[in-house]
Amino acid sequence: MPETTKVTQGFLDGHAALRKQLEIHKAGVGGLHGASREAARVTMDRAVLFLDEEIRPHASWEEVKFYPLLDSMVGGRAPFTATMRHEHAIIDRWIEDLAVNAGSTAPDVVWFARSADRLFGLIEAHFEEEEAVLLPILERRYETADDFERAVGGEIHAHSH
Ligand SMILES: [Fe+2]
Ligand SMILES: [Fe+2]
Repeated sequence: MPETTKVTQGFLDGHAALRKQLEIHKAGVGGLHGASREAARVTMDRAVLFLDEEIRPHASWEEVKFYPLLDSMVGGRAPFTATMRHEHAIIDRWIEDLAVNAGSTAPDVVWFARSADRLFGLIEAHFEEEEAVLLPILERRYETADDFERAVGGEIHAHSH
């Protein structure tokens, strides 16, 4: 492993892959206003699929493997990652709202575009919080990417196709 590799490179790579997809869906949703009803449905379904099959599993992995590791390192009465977990709950709820709208017989495209854009912004901010606040703690704690991977209980969840 090259010396320049960060302890948390695997985690950063996972976020980078998700960000790339996020940008694609952001652009798609941005074009919803002028789209035909059929094209709008495809765009909305794709965005919901991405959120459900990529963002949700990433968040679940973090809650099961990643956050508990940080909680065990940073002592305190309440879990250190409580606010991050709560943001996951908000993200999950907003995904559900989008899924329900997209799946309805008469989706509100304007509402979907606005709400998806708001959710994408929240996810971007959430990623930045994890990278800026949580990763430095791990960079200080572990020597190598392997050490971190072992501590977190296996492969870093990149989940990129
Ligand atoms: Fe997260
Ligand atoms: Fe994350």
